[in-house]
Amino acid sequence: MDDQMAYAMAELGDFAAYADCCNVVPVKVFSMAEVAKHNSPEDCWVVLHGHVYDLTKFAKGHVGGANLITDLAGKDGTSVFEASHGENVLNSVRVDCCIGDIDPASVLEEHRAVAKLRERA
Ligand code: HEM
Repeated sequence: MDDQMAYAMAELGDFAAYADCCNVVPVKVFSMAEVAKHNSPEDCWVVLHGHVYDLTKFAKGHVGGANLITDLAGKDGTSVFEASHGENVLNSVRVDCCIGDIDPASVLEEHRAVAKLRERA
């Protein structure tokens, strides 16, 4: 459809046409209580920099090892993630894995993953 038609349909309340012409996609906002339910290697959601990622499939092929990601399942893993990666690394997983945003008010201290220190041998 041409732009004029898309704008006309948007004015009539057709959101799909609006999204089509303005590239606006509705973003789902999750609470931490919902994310926390997806807390296993078979169902692994992780909050990173304010966004919710379903990393269940991605973790299996992670160059750094699956466990580093599945250890963060159901958590806000931002501080652990940013210790080894810049935010730009997320560009390569955003399209496949980002499923929405987190409601920041729902993130409590207990939801934040912290890096585990390795014990000395
Ligand atoms: C939590 C979500 C994470 C995502 C989405 C993620 C994503 C990625 C990606 C896309 C790569 C490939 C980078 C490239 O080819 O340039 C990578 C590599 C790697 N990641 Fe992660 N990662 C995560 C967590 C972690 C954590 C928590 C650690 C370590 C504590 C880690 C350690 C590594 C290492 C050692 C590599 C290979 C070396 C490198 O390319 O830097 N990752 N990760």
